[in-house]
Amino acid sequence: MPSTPVLLCFGDEQESSARIAQAAGHHLVRIDRHRFPDGEIKLRLPPTLPDHVVILRTLNDPNEKLVELLLTAQTARDLGARHLTLVAPYLGYMRQDVAFQPGEAISQRIVGRFLAGLFDAVITVDPHLHRVATLQQAVPVANAVVLSAAPLLSDLIVTQRPKALLLGPDEESAQWLALAASRHGFDYAVCRKVRRGDRAVDIALPDILVSGRQVVLLDDVVSTGHTLAQATRQLLAAGAASVDVAVTHALFVGDAWQMILNAGVREVWSTDCVKHASNAVSMSAPIGEALIRIDAMTMTR
Ligand code: R5P
Repeated sequence: MPSTPVLLCFGDEQESSARIAQAAGHHLVRIDRHRFPDGEIKLRLPPTLPDHVVILRTLNDPNEKLVELLLTAQTARDLGARHLTLVAPYLGYMRQDVAFQPGEAISQRIVGRFLAGLFDAVITVDPHLHRVATLQQAVPVANAVVLSAAPLLSDLIVTQRPKALLLGPDEESAQWLALAASRHGFDYAVCRKVRRGDRAVDIALPDILVSGRQVVLLDDVVSTGHTLAQATRQLLAAGAASVDVAVTHALFVGDAWQMILNAGVREVWSTDCVKHASNAVSMSAPIGEALIRIDAMTMTR
């Protein structure tokens, strides 16, 4: 018999999970997790589960989390779940979508198929899909839902920098720039970027006047921070009045945050897809709405 869906979460994501569970009207249950001295993990779920179970795991630092998902999803099926949804606000391993050198693992395809073997539906936010058109191509589940943080980031930017010029650091960011700019009528443009290594990028600013403008750099993910730091230095050298950053996924590896502040960034606004001190926008409402739509579909089956 259908009953209220359960949202299973891990302790380090309890706060964001609680916001999403409340938005979706789901019961929140924390998975009991024990890590053995040798690194193996033991998980304990509620002994019985309803038809629709949601597992929330954002996939930054993904390697151990993928094992957690394997153990959780298979146990949830054994305990009665008939429809399993993964909410991965940040979906890792999406950037390696081709073999750039012969012999390279195409991680996007492999991880995508792994997740599709465990889940019936996947919800994520601004996945880094470059050479594939849809999330379903990367993660071939029946229901692959892509949300964007660009509208909510735009709502925040308009309150802080109403006359901002929005800039994307590379061509791939154009999709998010167009969404954010059209919502409040911001001017926008994108830079060109050539990546020479993990921590080395060259950026060419667009042919647009930045002198005197309050520039907000908007991107899907900040990792080492070198992309945003390099763009900021060039914008300030070109006379920008200020540079702020709005980003969906605040990975901020190592000293990335300090480095972009040192480059001259005034403020950083991120979403709660990845927990970080810069979080200023919650994605719980759109994720909750997506879960309610999936509930409705599972109930009509
Ligand atoms: C790549 O194209 C993404 O959109 C980001 O621009 C990139 O991942 C940022 O990486 P990093 O912070 O290491 O420069």
